[in-house]
Amino acid sequence: MDLAEQHVHFQPFGRKTEAKKGKTLLQLANDAGVSIESICGSAGKCGKCKVVVRSGAFALSAPNESELKILGDSARVSNVRLACQATIRTPSRIVIEVPEESRRGHHRLLAAGVEPKRVLKPAMKKVLLKIPPATLKDLRADDDRLLDALGKQASARASIHPGVHAHIPGAMREKGWVATVTLYRGREVIKVEPGDTTNDSFGVAADIGTTKVVAYLIDLRSGETVATESMPNPQIPFGEDLMSRISYTVREKDGAQKLQAVIVEGLNSLISRLCEQKGVEHESILEVIVVGNTAMHHLFFGIPAQHVAAAPYAPAVRTSLTTSPEHVGMRMYRFGKVSSLPNIAGFVGADAVADLVSSGLYNDKKIGMMIDIGTNTEIIAGNEKRLLSCSCASGPAFEGAHIRFGMRAATGAIERVWIDPVTKDVRLRTVDDAPPRGICGSGIVDAISELSRAGLLDASGRLVDTRDMKDVRKAKAGGLEFVVARSKDTGMGEDITIGQHDIQEIQLAKAAIFTGVSILMAKLNVGCSNIARVYAAGAFGTYVDAASAINIGMYPDVPVERIRFIGNAAGSGARMALKSTDARDLAESLSRKVEYVELAAEPGFQNEFAQAMFLPHRDLSRFPNHGKAKPRQ
Ligand code: FES
Repeated sequence: MDLAEQHVHFQPFGRKTEAKKGKTLLQLANDAGVSIESICGSAGKCGKCKVVVRSGAFALSAPNESELKILGDSARVSNVRLACQATIRTPSRIVIEVPEESRRGHHRLLAAGVEPKRVLKPAMKKVLLKIPPATLKDLRADDDRLLDALGKQASARASIHPGVHAHIPGAMREKGWVATVTLYRGREVIKVEPGDTTNDSFGVAADIGTTKVVAYLIDLRSGETVATESMPNPQIPFGEDLMSRISYTVREKDGAQKLQAVIVEGLNSLISRLCEQKGVEHESILEVIVVGNTAMHHLFFGIPAQHVAAAPYAPAVRTSLTTSPEHVGMRMYRFGKVSSLPNIAGFVGADAVADLVSSGLYNDKKIGMMIDIGTNTEIIAGNEKRLLSCSCASGPAFEGAHIRFGMRAATGAIERVWIDPVTKDVRLRTVDDAPPRGICGSGIVDAISELSRAGLLDASGRLVDTRDMKDVRKAKAGGLEFVVARSKDTGMGEDITIGQHDIQEIQLAKAAIFTGVSILMAKLNVGCSNIARVYAAGAFGTYVDAASAINIGMYPDVPVERIRFIGNAAGSGARMALKSTDARDLAESLSRKVEYVELAAEPGFQNEFAQAMFLPHRDLSRFPNHGKAKPRQ
């Protein structure tokens, strides 16, 4: 076959790319610049990457077990495939149609977060030096000459990184004995460049979440965040949650190395994108600082994480780490540094410390609570005197996983739902006001809250057949379902519904969170009314309606005005640490101060969890204002 014919064509985009043997359709779609939804990170579990093979089906691998399980007969009869599973067997001309519901659209990325002002004091600092030239009257060696100039002109007493010596003679002489020295923490010379390069000084702060990785490019001279990039965590195919990833490292030979390799590669590709966006060289990245929960942290640094997953849940490392790029495999300036904030204990890691640093909860006089919702949710409660922390396995349901029409907050995702309690009329809002394609976390929380306020959902989470509500109907799979959007409006040829299974997934997630809230409150001997401030962190925490979150029993029952949205607080804390060694020192002392509560070891855990499965809770005295607060319009 003519080589020009060995392409995969993606319709209706009119894009094509070479049909490379062994590559998945999803990888090729990426190569062709076509964005296909992939909530499970190519694990073949979410079923969101469906495509239709219009021609050339013979050239693809046969449907595998995951595809048959998710797609049933449509894999064979209608040539529907999972793009992340179908691979090219024989390079040929293949035509793929990407249906509306599988197109990713524009993802809403929450990168911003509250970032209290701090004096700019990065660990990496560039100093311009005029160095006395070597003469027959001044026979000092180059390193002595450099360090003397550094002492006199910058009051710094430093040593030189051994790898830098080779560059010093050339760098000092090339621009007439004017050179720029990069100092790490004022005590180690890690770079010497000819001339004045003081305006070329960058660092990257990265928040490695279980589900998403966000990286920020920071200009270390101004402290400004100049670019932001994100991606799904490339470890997802090895397990959606922390436990399954950790068990992969134990079960599989080289499992830990594989998980480390994919996350390092993922972060490297984000750094490349950041550099490309701003025309910055990799060489200019002097430091990378990462935060993540303890498991993400350990897996990134190649440290065994299995002990965090089993009693007595001891992590291998608490203190902050600093290592070389080579040790981890980062593509950046070779003698730069790769650092992390410290962990606390259990799964409460450097991301929670970063949350704490940026939220300011550690300074509060009254009791406050910081909740950072993710696949793993971290909670810290207390005040300037005492702080308690815990970690909850809330799962990826709020990211749209395990929800039939679930999707991330991208174009067309239903993000707000209102139901008139009297007329039962339903109103929606979608991301970018596009026709509905699915429902994201904030939308489903709203829907459950509104169904409950309208009397269409009972406290156990069962939809109620009131017969006067046309949008609650019998589901094909049995039970009832709520029709959020009709097919005539979705343009997908089918209704978007929320079924009993979806409601139960959200109940499990919110019960995991409230159990943590509840146990920390009990340990501090306080009730909801004592909580003066709830800091809602993370993308989901920011977009979810506070009244709806209280109404389903996820947040504690406090007046909504006490809830403060602080955005991607872990990212903010990481950026602060990159820009200020004072923020790092604060993080180190906070990580020692915060007490850790292991929920699984708490005697009342199971009972708390079972009670929190109710909407809002089995014990209604904990939610005296249930249903009173109205969702934002
Ligand atoms: S990305 Fe293909 S099934 Fe999830």
